[in-house]
Amino acid sequence: MKYDFTSKIDRSNTGAFKYDFMPEPLKGSGIVPMTVADMEFSAPPEVNKAVASAAYHGCYGYTGADRAYLDAVKHWQKVRHGWDIEDDWYVVTNGVVQALGIAVRAFTKPGDSVLIMTPVYHPFYGAVEDNGRKLETSALIEKGGRYEIDFDDLEAKAAMPSVKLMLLCSPHNPVGRVWTEDELKRMSDICVKNGVIVVSDEIHNDLIMPGYRHTTFAKIEGANDNCVICTAISKTSTLRGSPAPTYSFRTKI
Ligand SMILES: Cc1ncc(COP(=O)(O)O)c(C=O)c1O
Repeated sequence: MKYDFTSKIDRSNTGAFKYDFMPEPLKGSGIVPMTVADMEFSAPPEVNKAVASAAYHGCYGYTGADRAYLDAVKHWQKVRHGWDIEDDWYVVTNGVVQALGIAVRAFTKPGDSVLIMTPVYHPFYGAVEDNGRKLETSALIEKGGRYEIDFDDLEAKAAMPSVKLMLLCSPHNPVGRVWTEDELKRMSDICVKNGVIVVSDEIHNDLIMPGYRHTTFAKIEGANDNCVICTAISKTSTLRGSPAPTYSFRTKI
């Protein structure tokens, strides 16, 4: 077995946010923490080897994303998602949530509105409101256990003059939807028509159930000039605590 997905790893007393930072009455109670999407598997052996070798080297100074790193990201996106990235699209950030806040500040002005589809991963709200922008929400509709987009409502909200940007979660946390190409095209067309830039958080793009396929928003016809794609290897490979940078791609905006 190359990758071990069955052994249970005890993460207590390792500084793990999920376990060691639980509120006191819950800590050690055996309750399963669902607070953050953090794997319970070990990172791949290749990664553990590289981390151990860096530890033996012993210098933990500033690092940068070198050519090999950029090429690895590029290769991953090409092989996994059929997406070709150009070199001048990379923007290195320290996290996807940080990237969302940066994009909100870069592409909107105080008092502008930012559109989100709710319910959504909670830091989306803060990325907007903590940066002095207003939230405009379009509620997803639950139909028989599956969430769908209310396109009439989305279109009405996107057409509001104050709405300048949309934060998209794709695949969507927490409703577990992998948006189809058709849905993404409709969203993109609405946003392009109304001059709304789309910032797409695609951090869960590799974690898809069999039978489904993730489509990178930038690949949708007409979307590439109007979007920022936020990706990371942290969820896929259990690397959030590492210094591995995350990547946002400011395509042609
Ligand atoms: C949709 C989504 N975006 C972003 C993050 C966190 O990203 P980061 O740790 O890179 O800020 C999470 C973590 O659970 C998430 O579910």
